[in-house]
Amino acid sequence: MKKKIPWVWLIFGVIVGVAGLATMNYTLHETSTTEFCSTCHANDAAKEWKMSKHYSNQYGVRVGCSSCHLPEEFIPKMKRKMKAVGELYAHHVTKTIDTPEKFEAKRKELAESEWARMKENGGQECRNCHFMDTINNPEKEFLKDMHVSALSGGQICTDCHKGVAHKAPD
Ligand code: HEC
Ligand code: HEC
Ligand code: HEC
Ligand code: HEC
Repeated sequence: MKKKIPWVWLIFGVIVGVAGLATMNYTLHETSTTEFCSTCHANDAAKEWKMSKHYSNQYGVRVGCSSCHLPEEFIPKMKRKMKAVGELYAHHVTKTIDTPEKFEAKRKELAESEWARMKENGGQECRNCHFMDTINNPEKEFLKDMHVSALSGGQICTDCHKGVAHKAPD
């Protein structure tokens, strides 16, 4: 006798799968908002960001935390999310930056870690918005060529522009 196809199980599996994906999608989204980051970073990084051009500028464009800190590509995004588990631990258990003094003492190390991450992907997050070959400043015509040649020479934005959203370390 032919074995019956377990349709019920198949349908059940699909439902569980879809629900799982939806949950993952929802969680990824909810843990990527500036509001979420600010639950921990309100007194340090987020406070400084609010004084930067990436928060407020003549065009009224606001650049949130994840636009600079969270890669858009799936694997790098998941890698960054795994690292965030360490941040959870550092926030609740080891309390590495829970006072302004501790944050200041650790700022350089944290900034260097972020610069290194950006160096590795060629400053991809910055380049998702900034296209140097279309830079158009009539008062500083040299800017376009200067940027294009700096980038083709292997430099990334943060090699020259430090502290674009926070105070740069000393
Ligand atoms: C649960 C609290 C918490 C949340 C939420 C949180 N962070 Fe953090 N974050 C920390 C702590 C604590 C550190 C310091 C980690 C250490 O001491 O190594 C940190 C470090 C960092 C660093 C330093 C660089 C690095 O690689 O360590 C960056 C950048 C950062 N967070 C960005 C973000 C962004 C962007 C978000 C939102 C998507 C976010 N954080 C959400 C607690 C948090
Ligand atoms: C989501 C889009 C977006 C991303 C991502 C982004 N920027 Fe910007 N950036 C802007 C906008 C919008 C302005 C404001 C333009 C103005 O006011 O002239 C700006 C302004 C700037 C300026 C000039 C103003 C200043 O603060 O000195 C620099 C330099 C800059 N960005 C560098 C960077 C670097 C470096 C990164 C990556 C770490 C980055 N940007 C990521 C959109 C973005
Ligand atoms: C070799 C160093 C160097 C690199 C690398 C570099 N810049 Fe610049 N950038 C400069 C200098 C110098 C200026 C001019 C500052 C001024 O005029 O006050 C400038 C100006 C700018 C401006 C302001 C433009 C304007 O019209 O006033 C923006 C935005 C900017 N850079 C973004 C970026 C981004 C994004 C990257 C990476 C994709 C990048 N830069 C890479 C050195 C660099
Ligand atoms: C325009 C891009 C940009 C935005 C927007 C941005 N950051 Fe950053 N962030 C950086 C860069 C680049 C560094 C590396 C140090 C530097 O150059 O200032 C950094 C460093 C940090 C650090 C390490 C400590 C330090 O001061 O260097 C933390 C924590 C952090 N960011 C959290 C956040 C949070 C939270 C938000 C949103 C409220 C945010 N960032 C928004 C680009 C950005």
